[in-house]
Amino acid sequence: MTSPTPSGDPVQAQYEQWVYPEPIRDLSDPQVRRVRDAGDPDVLGHAYWPDRPPRRGLHILIAGCGSNAAARYAFHHPEATVIGVDLSEASLAHERRLKEQHRLDNLTLHKGRIEDIERLGLSFDLVDSTGVLHHLPEPERGIQALAKVLRPDGAMFVMLYGAYGRTGVYMLQRLFRMLGVGQSPADVAFVKQVLGALKMDHPARAYIESAKDIHFDAGIVDTFLHPQDRAYTVAGCIDLLDRAGLVLQGWLDNCYYYPEWQMARDHPLFERLSRLPDPQLWQAMELFHGRISVHSFFACHRTRDPASYRIDFARPDFMAMAPMRRMGLVCFTGTDGTVALERAPFPKITLRDSHAAIFRQVDDRKTVGECFRASGVHAESEEIAASFCRGMFRDLWRLGCVDLLFPSALAR
Ligand SMILES: C[S@@+](CC[C@H](N)C(=O)[O-])C[C@H]1O[C@@H](n2cnc3c(N)ncnc32)[C@H](O)[C@@H]1O
Repeated sequence: MTSPTPSGDPVQAQYEQWVYPEPIRDLSDPQVRRVRDAGDPDVLGHAYWPDRPPRRGLHILIAGCGSNAAARYAFHHPEATVIGVDLSEASLAHERRLKEQHRLDNLTLHKGRIEDIERLGLSFDLVDSTGVLHHLPEPERGIQALAKVLRPDGAMFVMLYGAYGRTGVYMLQRLFRMLGVGQSPADVAFVKQVLGALKMDHPARAYIESAKDIHFDAGIVDTFLHPQDRAYTVAGCIDLLDRAGLVLQGWLDNCYYYPEWQMARDHPLFERLSRLPDPQLWQAMELFHGRISVHSFFACHRTRDPASYRIDFARPDFMAMAPMRRMGLVCFTGTDGTVALERAPFPKITLRDSHAAIFRQVDDRKTVGECFRASGVHAESEEIAASFCRGMFRDLWRLGCVDLLFPSALAR
């Protein structure tokens, strides 16, 4: 890529000095192996393309790859062609080290700006841009450039900062700017001292307690001393996509955007929320939750046929769809057959008996109908069974626990 970054760019300068995220030493380490990028097709492939069998040989762009992500994708998907782009030479140097160490011949790295991505002359089935667009001077230009290299049936995974959950972070960023705190190691030490003195009820407190990346110095800089970052509401995410001719296909974690995991069904708010169409429901849930600090979602071209990816729980052949457990789902089966689902920070959910019996049959192969029949749950008619399963799997989908594959995706 022949796109020199503007000299004096403070964002580039930061990522040259403070490589982010913390560099991984060995991708084959069992502990490291277990961690996947959220946009990885093994995590979200069923949701990206529910109408097709799992896709191999994908062309994947990691836009703003940082120090690890492009190599991690290439490592887990040897049959894919992975391109990593970043403006930080220091980050790319680490990606190169991982490439050599693990002989990742399927990985190509380019130094350059997302805004200039078209210059590569390539197109992609999957574009992952995690934690990057909100640092661009004009995020709209960045996402428009990415949309241009996304294939017509491609999927784009994006993580943007969430406005409400970062309120306290922006207060501290402002404090540090007022005090003239820069990005030197001494400045980082000072920030740590301030964080240590923060009151228990400061609006940044909850963020700090749940943040995974402020335990290393580059994470402190990235969070509190960044020269350029902005945050988005749900409506802002949808608007940004719209400006690039894209539509929101789905959320990484439905449990934040639907009420099922966040309140009792008999709560009066639940009933009122149920009357809202999806985009308004998501906005309402964002306000109710109050602390969403990142929005992770996937999008596709507006021109892509929604029938190829929208999950229609009313479709006549619903019983021929296949439920797939979301990778990483924490699920306990008790000796008495009870099933409990766990999704921090929410309380554990225990499925009631008939739901547990059906859920235990979900093995990523059986259809909904097969799960129902194998469960031993009795229904007086096929219509009643289908209606029961529609409700149950809609709940599980809204809890973020399952994806559903269309009959056309089941190669039998
Ligand atoms: C917060 S890090 C995220 C890294 C990676 N996506 C991840 O999630 O691990 C942001 C990365 O985006 C890169 N970046 C920022 N602006 C960019 C731009 N305009 N074009 C390309 N890369 C950019 C930075 O150099 C940095 O490595």
